[in-house]
Amino acid sequence: MKKLFTFLCLFLTFFSLTSSICYGEELENNKFTLNPLPYDYDALEPYIDKETMILHHDKHQKAYVDNLNNAISKYPELYSKGLEGLLTNVDSLPSDVKQTIINNAGGVYNHEFFWSIMAPEQPGVPMGDISKVISKTFGSFDDFKTRFKIAAINRFGSGWAWLVSDKEGNLSIISTANQDTPITQGLIPIIGIDLWEHAYYLKYQNKRGDYIDAWWNTVNWDQAQRNYEAVVAPR
Ligand SMILES: [Fe+2]
Repeated sequence: MKKLFTFLCLFLTFFSLTSSICYGEELENNKFTLNPLPYDYDALEPYIDKETMILHHDKHQKAYVDNLNNAISKYPELYSKGLEGLLTNVDSLPSDVKQTIINNAGGVYNHEFFWSIMAPEQPGVPMGDISKVISKTFGSFDDFKTRFKIAAINRFGSGWAWLVSDKEGNLSIISTANQDTPITQGLIPIIGIDLWEHAYYLKYQNKRGDYIDAWWNTVNWDQAQRNYEAVVAPR
């Protein structure tokens, strides 16, 4: 028993040291970090290719994390607000870094959300309450997809298309420019698609519509349901 305890202590000590080597600086300085993807880079094949996922996560999202930490370094008290605290109180941000924080905290938040709302081997259609609410709001799931795609196609330049809920559980489709987020508008994202060319250009070139059509196969409707439940759950 004593040997087992000693082994566990050594294991935990080693794990702790390893973690501090990898992430110690971020933890000590309370910086924002690049979280790993919740699945393998090739998990969303054939709809989203491995090379796109590597670049998207390791280069583009990392740049948002780094730029956010650089912008916030003058104001270390802002770290404690977290991403949502920063993005839901943008008017209180220091003016010299306000837009940089909006862009890059938004970039980190949106991408974390994006990874969460996709998963391999998905059914392609919603289940549960979210399915009923979508049909009730938009007529049918197919009608919803059509309207969502129009919003996504019509987003000029870079941005996102979202299915969002207000605080009463009413659904709507919106699109945001650049890295603006629904939470800054007081809305809760249920699903969302990245419309920056870095999200699809390697595989789909300029055919954003083809990327959107393929993306439906990756949507994690269980997570969408959980996102909606968090809005309408009794408080
Ligand atoms: Fe992106």
